[in-house]
Amino acid sequence: MGTDPLQELEQIADDAATAIRQAASLKGLEEQRVAWLGRKSRLNELMKHIPSLPADQRGAFGKRMNEVKASVESALSSRRDTLAASPARAPLDVTLPGSAIPQGRLHPITQTIQSILALFVPMGFEIVEGPELEFEYYNFDALNIPKDHPSREGFDTFFIDRPSPDPTRGRLLLRSHTSPVQIRVMEQRQPPLRIVVPGKVYRPDPLDPSHSFMFHQVEGLMVDGRTSFADLKGVLDRFLKALFGPDTKTRFRPHFFPFTEPSAEVDIACASCRGSGCSTCGRKGWLEIMGCGMVHPNVLKAVRYDPQRVQGFAFGMGVERIAMLKHHIADIRLFFENDLRFLEQF
Ligand code: DAH
Repeated sequence: MGTDPLQELEQIADDAATAIRQAASLKGLEEQRVAWLGRKSRLNELMKHIPSLPADQRGAFGKRMNEVKASVESALSSRRDTLAASPARAPLDVTLPGSAIPQGRLHPITQTIQSILALFVPMGFEIVEGPELEFEYYNFDALNIPKDHPSREGFDTFFIDRPSPDPTRGRLLLRSHTSPVQIRVMEQRQPPLRIVVPGKVYRPDPLDPSHSFMFHQVEGLMVDGRTSFADLKGVLDRFLKALFGPDTKTRFRPHFFPFTEPSAEVDIACASCRGSGCSTCGRKGWLEIMGCGMVHPNVLKAVRYDPQRVQGFAFGMGVERIAMLKHHIADIRLFFENDLRFLEQF
C-alpha cells in the first residue's frame, strides 16, 4: 500500500458515501453493502495494516476506522429507507383506473365492405373475389363494351405496359370496375347464381375530394331462369333500407350501361334535406348510390349461357361513396391518408 493509511481511510469514506447515495434499487444497495463492509472490502484490507502502524497512531486510526464503518452503515440504512418509500415500491392501489391498452380496428372502408356484404349474405348471395390485374377481354369485351365503342371512354383505364401473357384475351390492365368478375364466375359455373364481389378498382383520375385513382366497389349478380327487374328492385330496396335506415326512400332512374338492358341508376332520398334539396345532394334531393340492370343478352352469350333460358340482374356500387354518405365525410382522400385521428373515429 503506497499511500498513507489514514488518507486511504478518508478516501474510502468518501467513495462509499457517493456510491451508496447512487444505488438505484434495493438489490443494488445490497451489492454496495457487500462491497464496503464485506470480507473483501477495502476497509477490511486496510485493517490488516493496523499492526504495522507506529504504536502512538494505532488508537486514533482504529477509532477513525470504527467511525467510518458506522457512517457507511448509517448511509446504507438511510438509502434503504428512501428506496423502500419510492413510488416504484408503493403498494398497489387497485382502485386506480387501469391504463388503456391501445386497440387496433378495421379500416372504415373494410368495415363498410363488411356491412354491405353482411346484408346480401342472408339473401342467399355468396362472396366471391377476382383479380385486380385483369385482361381487356373480361374488363370490356365480354361485358359488351366493344373496342372503339364510345362507352369504353367512360371507363378510363390503366393499361399495363407489358406484352399480354394471353393475346387472345387482350392487353393486361388494372380493372376499372368489379364487373369482370361476373364474367369469370359465369364462365366457371352454371345458374342459379347469386354472388357479391368486393374489391379494389383503378382509374386514372386526378385526386380530388371525390376522386381517387384506386377505390373499392361491391358488385352483385343474380342469374337463374326467372329473375326479373322486380326482384332487382326488391333486393336493392331492402339492402338500402337496411344500410341507411328503414325510412330510406329509393328511386330507380333509367340509365345506360353496356352490360345491362334495361339499366338504371339507384338514388336514395337525401337524408340531410329529406328530398327538398341541399348542398349534400347538389339541390337535387336525391343521391346517386349505385348502377344496376338486367344482364344484357350479349353478356350471357359471352359466357355461353342461353338468353332464351336464363336471365338475371347485376349491380355495382362504390364503397367510398357509401361510407362518405353514411358518415358525412366530405373528402375521399381521408380514407387513404391513414391519419390515426381520422381512423380512430370508426
Ligand atoms: N361497373 C359499373 C361502374 O363501374 C357499375 C355497374 C353498373 C355495375 C351497372 C353493374 C351494373 O353490375 O349492372 O360504373
